[in-house]
Amino acid sequence: MSIAVRGLTKEFKNKRDKNKSKLVLKDISFDVGEGEFVSLLGPSGCGKTTALTIIAGFQKHNGGQILINGKEVTKPGPDRAFVFQNYALFPWMKVGENIMYPMKKRKIPKKVRKEKLKALLEMAQLEGTENSYIHELSGGMKQRVALLRALACEPQILLMDEPLGAVDFQMRQLLQIQLETILQKKNVTTLMVTHDVDEAIYLSDRVLIMSRDHGRILGDIKVDLLRPRDRNCEQYHSYMKQLTELLKSALDGEVKNEEDEDLLDFIQKNEHKSKVVRTMLNKGKEYSAC
Ligand SMILES: Nc1ncnc2c1ncn2[C@@H]1O[C@H](COP(=O)(O)OP(=O)(O)OP(=O)(O)O)[C@@H](O)[C@H]1O
Ligand SMILES: [Mg+2]
Repeated sequence: MSIAVRGLTKEFKNKRDKNKSKLVLKDISFDVGEGEFVSLLGPSGCGKTTALTIIAGFQKHNGGQILINGKEVTKPGPDRAFVFQNYALFPWMKVGENIMYPMKKRKIPKKVRKEKLKALLEMAQLEGTENSYIHELSGGMKQRVALLRALACEPQILLMDEPLGAVDFQMRQLLQIQLETILQKKNVTTLMVTHDVDEAIYLSDRVLIMSRDHGRILGDIKVDLLRPRDRNCEQYHSYMKQLTELLKSALDGEVKNEEDEDLLDFIQKNEHKSKVVRTMLNKGKEYSAC
């Protein structure tokens, strides 16, 4: 299934003063092709979650259209599954019940639900947590449960809002590999919001850079690398550099807040890392030339 966003415009009314409003998205257009994995990168507050929730049909827009396979949608549907930034799990349900909830709603037989649950828990290394309550899990575990719940019903479109934001570096890389394997196999069309340049390059077919200028798309970069991707190859690093530069320009000239400072800090650290790797690569070339 494909997604087409056409001239999307969204403004929020000021709750105290009805005459005032804030224009967050202005005339935004982009496509996600059937089976494609596209990431949405951008500074905090530029409207990524707003765009994603409108595509999911969770909130209304003021202008433009969302087309799924060419048909306009305005409401949520079983074709689209959503992974929320803050998990949105049911605290009164156990892990297993949370994951099986969408299957239960679709009246999938209990035996099938149980089998699927077992396979999903195994895949995300969450065996033995089936009977735990959500408050008993770490942030990273909650994120994995949220991801499994979205995948449980095998959606054709997966919308993810920073799905791996709270997991540690190692678990993040492991889940990226698993995510890629599952999505490639199932041919799920995916739109993911992330703050992580490396994650965007590792997983995406295309990366869209959104700016604070009413969500204007600053760049639409095709990641032309074979899968599974090799983080050590030179091309990977040039994508890192290109996207980092674009992200920087998405922040330029804007009022900076604390989250922006964090992002700039991340970009600077990243630049340092990519410099080290580039030096190592160049050294490697020198050695192989010897
Ligand atoms: N329900 C709402 N009412 C009023 N303003 C809102 C509402 N939801 C979002 N906004 C505003 O819209 C802008 C974009 O918010 P959004 O959550 O889409 O940003 P984001 O790019 O996802 O940021 P982050 O990276 O921090 O998650 C922000 O200025 C936010 O305050
Ligand atoms: Mg957000």
